[in-house]
Amino acid sequence: MEIDRKAFLESLGDADAIKKMDSEARADALEHRMLAELNTAIASRQNGGLQESNKAESSQFESGKYPTAAEVEAQIETRTYRSDAGFLMVLCTGANAKRLAPMPANPTLLDFFKLRFMDTANHVLQSANLAMKNGMSEEIILACLLHDVVQELIRTDHGWWGAQLFEPYVPKKVTFAICYHQALRYYADPSVGYEYPDLYRQLFGVDYVPPAYIEETYRMVRKHRWYMEPRMVAVNDLYAFDPSVVVTIDPFLDIIGRHCKQPKEGLGNDGSPVAHMWRTIIRPDQPL
Ligand SMILES: [Fe+2]
Ligand SMILES: [Fe+2]
Repeated sequence: MEIDRKAFLESLGDADAIKKMDSEARADALEHRMLAELNTAIASRQNGGLQESNKAESSQFESGKYPTAAEVEAQIETRTYRSDAGFLMVLCTGANAKRLAPMPANPTLLDFFKLRFMDTANHVLQSANLAMKNGMSEEIILACLLHDVVQELIRTDHGWWGAQLFEPYVPKKVTFAICYHQALRYYADPSVGYEYPDLYRQLFGVDYVPPAYIEETYRMVRKHRWYMEPRMVAVNDLYAFDPSVVVTIDPFLDIIGRHCKQPKEGLGNDGSPVAHMWRTIIRPDQPL
């Protein structure tokens, strides 16, 4: 999916403001925009069925009315929340939140896809679909299916948060892939056809240097025997934004069944070290 580079850059502000943005912030702004544009494109094809927040957000992009980076910076002290709050937590429209559909008593991963992953599902389903078409292993397909859903909860360092969310339930290779896809997206690997994206070169400049922790993570992962796991998530992530493809979760049910532990009490009720994260996704309106 092509995004309008000029409109995107304008939405970030002037050249100085863009330079001042941390590279991770710019990458996340880009990813967020692509998610929103994908959701809008699919929603218009399906004639509805999209969360209102995405529609409004994307129409803002289309009309070029996004704030500059300087304006975004100025908004920090006018808000009672931080921008890295997940999609489920903060509606981008400023409209009132709607009551979420109740979850079953013992919710499964499938229930979360249907009832809570409203902003991220299209993107990860497309990514998993591409991985399947490209003949990837079941672990990589599963990692693609799960790699960004934690952004419903929190967006900063979503690779690490996402890996933690799934750690008790999926093979270690899958959490490794989810964790490190975030860092690998900046580093080319021509051996598997992954070039540093032209779009990133245009957006970040040819002299762009990722922050130290990303660079260190990349060096560690590059030498790791499982390097290809997150690399293949990055490969199948990058080209996964295609509004002409609508993917359901059905083709992945067998893979989920074979590789994901589904606690009988349900995710969030199983006493695992991350059960609280699932409960927060179930009840984002719960105070305390
Ligand atoms: Fe990601
Ligand atoms: Fe992604």
